[in-house]
Amino acid sequence: MTTHTGPDEATGLYDVARLASLLGKTPATIRTMRSRGQLPEPTSPDINGGAVWAQEIIEAFTAPKTGSIGETPCDADLPPVVDLFAGCGGLSLGFQLARFDVLYGFDNWPCAVDTYNANLGHPAEILDLSDVSASIERLAPFFEKPPRPAIIGGPPCQDFSSAGKRKEGARADLTEKYATIVAHYQPPLFVMENVARAAGAAAYNRALDTMREAGYHIEKIVLNADRCGVPQTRKRLIAFGTHSEALTARILNLLQENQSPHPMTIRDYFGNRLGVEHYYRHPRSYARRGIFSIDEPSPTIRGVNRPIPAGYPGHPGDTAPACEARPLTTPERAEVQTFPPGFAWVGSRTNVEQMIGNAVPVRLGKFIGEAIAQAWREQEI
Ligand SMILES: C[S@@+](CC[C@H](N)C(=O)[O-])C[C@H]1O[C@@H](n2cnc3c(N)ncnc32)[C@H](O)[C@@H]1O
Repeated sequence: MTTHTGPDEATGLYDVARLASLLGKTPATIRTMRSRGQLPEPTSPDINGGAVWAQEIIEAFTAPKTGSIGETPCDADLPPVVDLFAGCGGLSLGFQLARFDVLYGFDNWPCAVDTYNANLGHPAEILDLSDVSASIERLAPFFEKPPRPAIIGGPPCQDFSSAGKRKEGARADLTEKYATIVAHYQPPLFVMENVARAAGAAAYNRALDTMREAGYHIEKIVLNADRCGVPQTRKRLIAFGTHSEALTARILNLLQENQSPHPMTIRDYFGNRLGVEHYYRHPRSYARRGIFSIDEPSPTIRGVNRPIPAGYPGHPGDTAPACEARPLTTPERAEVQTFPPGFAWVGSRTNVEQMIGNAVPVRLGKFIGEAIAQAWREQEI
């Protein structure tokens, strides 16, 4: 039998047979993996009767997994974890680095699922979490036998807009759906990440009520990533709950105590690697500054990255003239989000920027995970 471990020479594509020999599996296993969402989305679902993948997608998928469980042994005393709204895996990777066994991620965005699968060392899968019954059904196998996993997740934040600007929209409702799933499965712990302004939103508070009524002791805290090992001002509202009042209180206590008294600057994290003292971050409006020094934390990394426009008017708060600055590159922005340099991104540049901007900074996830892990181990003693 002829085996092909590379792509088709003429097209640069992997078909099922070529992928099977590359991964050392049978074509039937490849088809099963595909139906379970354990492979990247094919470049085309049907060429000559089967799915095909571009070479770069497969290379990213098979690249060494940075920060995967293989490199950070998980602690069997901690509950395993399932990540809902997992995106490209920032929060999951942080929990892995804090030694949790993350089992699975779920999201409805194909390129985020592909990126997750290319890096995390365990599967992510497409799932529309707005369909609560279908989601409950899909999650059932995780809760059928012990140990029951914790649920972590960051439902989309766009619809918790600043007061008065927009009404809460459909995506705010996904926070309530997350809460319904938690209340249904009663995981030993949940962690929910939202934008800081969600705290005042009706949908957010209904979600917390749903989980309280299901028996959870809940605390919440706004963490600024720049006090948690991330060179970026990024405030996020972290709600978490367990069935033990003492455990929940201890987690809160550690999240408060473990913060650095000083914000982390870009120079603290990168040293002089960027080769510039100032950089440009496109402001939402020219009423805000666009030029930042590397001796301060980065402003919040958002999902768009623009070059310096010819007509940039400057701002009194700019730390240098525009001619001394440049925008950060996409890989640099991923590093500001504390993704490790070897992290493989799958998707168009626009989508990759969006995934980076959406993510929980890996080190913020690790900071949260480590506080929970410490509190968890203390109660076991
Ligand atoms: C704030 S991001 C999550 C970021 C992620 N926690 C991380 O650290 O990378 C929200 C995610 O929700 C996903 N999402 C939005 N609507 C969804 C739905 N109906 N079902 C599943 N996922 C959805 C988006 O694709 C996005 O990846």
